[in-house]
Amino acid sequence: MSRDRVVATRRLPGDALEGLGREVELTVWPERGVPPRAWMRSEVAAADALLCLLTDSVSRDLMEGSPRLRVISTVSVGVDHIDLAEATRRGIPVGHTPGVLTETTADLTFGLLLAAARCIGEGDRFVRAGQWTAERVWEPDMLLGVDVHGATLGVVGLGAIGRAVARRALGFGMRVLGWNRTPRAVAGVEVVHFDDLVSRSDLLSVHVALCEETRGLIDAAVIARMRPGAVLVNTARGGIVDELALAEALSRGQLAAAGLDVFEHEPLPADHPLLTLPNALVTPHIGSASHATRGRMVELAIANLRAGLARRRLPHCANSEVYEAELAGT
Ligand code: GLV
Repeated sequence: MSRDRVVATRRLPGDALEGLGREVELTVWPERGVPPRAWMRSEVAAADALLCLLTDSVSRDLMEGSPRLRVISTVSVGVDHIDLAEATRRGIPVGHTPGVLTETTADLTFGLLLAAARCIGEGDRFVRAGQWTAERVWEPDMLLGVDVHGATLGVVGLGAIGRAVARRALGFGMRVLGWNRTPRAVAGVEVVHFDDLVSRSDLLSVHVALCEETRGLIDAAVIARMRPGAVLVNTARGGIVDELALAEALSRGQLAAAGLDVFEHEPLPADHPLLTLPNALVTPHIGSASHATRGRMVELAIANLRAGLARRRLPHCANSEVYEAELAGT
C-alpha cells in the first residue's frame, strides 16, 4: 500500500517531523521563510495532507489544484490565512492549535501593555544611545508614562486569550471592561457595548480573530473616540486596527502609546510610519513564542494531521461544520 503524502511548509522545532517522516512520505520546504507559490502548487498538488504556518496562504486555487488533500493542519490558532469556506465545501477539515498558547500570548500582551504604558522600550533605547548622562541622571519629567494599576482596561473580544488578559489585569488592581461579538459573562469583567468600551478605557487590548466582521474594527473613527492619552495593544491580528490612523493619533499625542505584535503586512515594511514613532512599541509576531508553547503547538498540529489522515475527527478543528455536512450527506 502506498504511503500518504504530507507536505510541511517549514522545518519545525523538536523531532516531531522526524517521527512523522517514518510514517508517511514527507516533503519539507528546506529553507527559511515562506515557500514560493510555485513550490506550494507543485508539492501540494499530489499531497494527502498539508502542515502549514500562519504565513502560508492556503487559498481556493491551491485547494483546487490538490484533489487528494484530506486534511490541512496549521501550527497556529488563527486560521485567517486559510480559505475555510472552501475547505468546508470540499470536506477538508482544518486543524489549528487553540488552548495551548492562551497563557503565553496573554503574558506577551501584558508585557506589551506594561512596556508601552511605562515607556520601557524608550527607556532601553535612551540608555543604549548614550543619552543617560550625568546631566540627565534623573529628571522629574523624564520618560513619564501611564499608570497601569488602578486604570481601566478594555478587552476587545472575550475568548480564551482576552479572558486570560482580563485575569492578569484584575491581579494588577485594574477595572476591567469587556466586549464580545456574542455577549458572554466573565467573572470580574463588566461587559459593555463596544462604544462604551472604547470611550471608557484607559488601555484597550485587542483579542478578536480576524474575519470579515472584525477587519478594520479599530478604525480612524474608533481611535478618535478613545480617551486622550489612552494606550492601545494588539496581539491578535493586523488588519483589525487601522495602522495609519493609529500612527497619526500617536504622533499627535492623542494616544499616549501603542504596543503591537501583529501588523497588516508582516514583516512590517521598513518605511512604515509606526517605526518613526518613539511611542509605538513593536514586536515581530511573537505572542506564542516560548519554547514550551511552540513545542505544544507543533504536537497538537501533528495530532490534528494524523487524525485527518486516519479519517478520525481532529482534536481541534476550525471548521467542525465539515463533519455536520458529512453526516447530512450520509
Ligand atoms: C498566532 O498568531 C497564532 O494564530 O497562533
